[in-house]
Amino acid sequence: MNRKKFLITSTLTAIGLSSFGKVRKLSDGTFDSDCETTNDILGPFYRSDAPIRSDLTYEGLKGTRIELKGKVYQSDCVTPLKSAMVEIWHCDTNGVYDNESKAYHQRARWITSEDGQYSFKTILPGKYLNGQLFRPAHIHYRVTAANCKELISQIYFKGDPHIEKDPWASKEKAKLRIIELIPQDTNGNLSLNFDIYLRKK
Ligand SMILES: [Fe+2]
Repeated sequence: MNRKKFLITSTLTAIGLSSFGKVRKLSDGTFDSDCETTNDILGPFYRSDAPIRSDLTYEGLKGTRIELKGKVYQSDCVTPLKSAMVEIWHCDTNGVYDNESKAYHQRARWITSEDGQYSFKTILPGKYLNGQLFRPAHIHYRVTAANCKELISQIYFKGDPHIEKDPWASKEKAKLRIIELIPQDTNGNLSLNFDIYLRKK
C-alpha cells in the first residue's frame, strides 16, 4: 500500500497493519505507529551549514534535472509536520561532492511548510567508487524537528544495477527508500516523491 494513501478510519480502535508497520490508537485518541523512515549511514561528505534553498541548480550545471519532493509526517504516520528541517546533499554527475567551495553545490536545507511539504530542484547524482564497487546513485538526507529523533538516511533509485551489491542499499530496511523516477515533461526532466516519517524523541 502506498503510504500516502494509507487511511485511518474512525472505526480503527486497536491495532492495524499496513505495509510499513503497525498503527495503534492511544487512549487520548491519537495514533502511534512504527512507520518511521529507516536510517542509513551519514557517509564521509556531510557539511553543516548548507544554504537554505530549494533550487540547487545553476547555470552550467550538468545533469538530468529532477524535482525531489515529499512530506514530513509525525510519528503517528498521518499528521504533517511543519517547520522540520530537511537537508540533502549528493555528488555531481561525475560522482564528486563539493567538499570545499562556498557555493555548497548540491547541498541545501529547507524548512517544511504548514502542511509538511518540502521540495528541491537538483540533478540526478552520479556514482562513485566504494572500494572496488560503485555505490548506487543516492541522495543523502538529514531531517531534524522539535521533539523528534534526528533522521539520517539516503534514498536510491529504482532499477539501479548497483543496489544489489551495495552494503547499505541492499539491506531490507532500505527497500522503502528505493524511489521511482517519474518523467515530468518532454524535456527529460524527472520527478520523485519521498515522504518522511519521523519518530518521537
Ligand atoms: Fe554519498
